[in-house]
Amino acid sequence: MTSDTILIASDHAGFALKETLEKELEALGYDVEDLGPQSDASTDYADYAHPLAERVSSGNVKRGVLLCGTGLGMSYAANRHANVRAAVAWSPEIAALAREHNDANVLVLPARFVGEDEGRAILKAWLDTPFAGGRHARRVAKIEIGDEPTKENS
Ligand code: RB5
Repeated sequence: MTSDTILIASDHAGFALKETLEKELEALGYDVEDLGPQSDASTDYADYAHPLAERVSSGNVKRGVLLCGTGLGMSYAANRHANVRAAVAWSPEIAALAREHNDANVLVLPARFVGEDEGRAILKAWLDTPFAGGRHARRVAKIEIGDEPTKENS
C-alpha cells in the first residue's frame, strides 16, 4: 500500500460494478485495495463508506471509489468526514467537473443507473482530470466547517 493506492468499496447494489472497476483500475496500473464486500449479499452502505472515508480523511490514502444503488447513501456517509469530497457522478462530464472544480477525492457511482462501459468511462474521467486550482481552490477551501475562526472566536 502507498498513499497513491486507490481504495474501493460498495454495498450489495454496487458489488458487481465494483468488481468490474477494480479490474479496470488494476489493468490501468493502479494499486487497488478492496474494502469489500466480497459478495452481493445484502449489506448497509455506511458500514463500507466510513472505513474508506476515514482513510482518505486522515491522509492515509489520497483517493477512493464507492458504489451503491443511487450513490446517495455512500456520498452522505463519506462526506461526513473532514476533507473528504465525495462526488456522485453519473456521466464522464460530471466526473471530470468534480475533479476540475471540486477536487473530488472520492468518486461515488450510482451502480443501478450506469452500465459497465459507462462506469469505466466515468472512472477514467475522474482519474485523468486534474484539479484546476485558482478560484476553485478558494471555493473548495470554504467547504470545511469547524477549522475556521468564527466571529465569536476570532
Ligand atoms: C440498497 O437497496 C440501496 O438503498 C443503496 O444501494 C443505496 O442506493 C442507498 O443510497
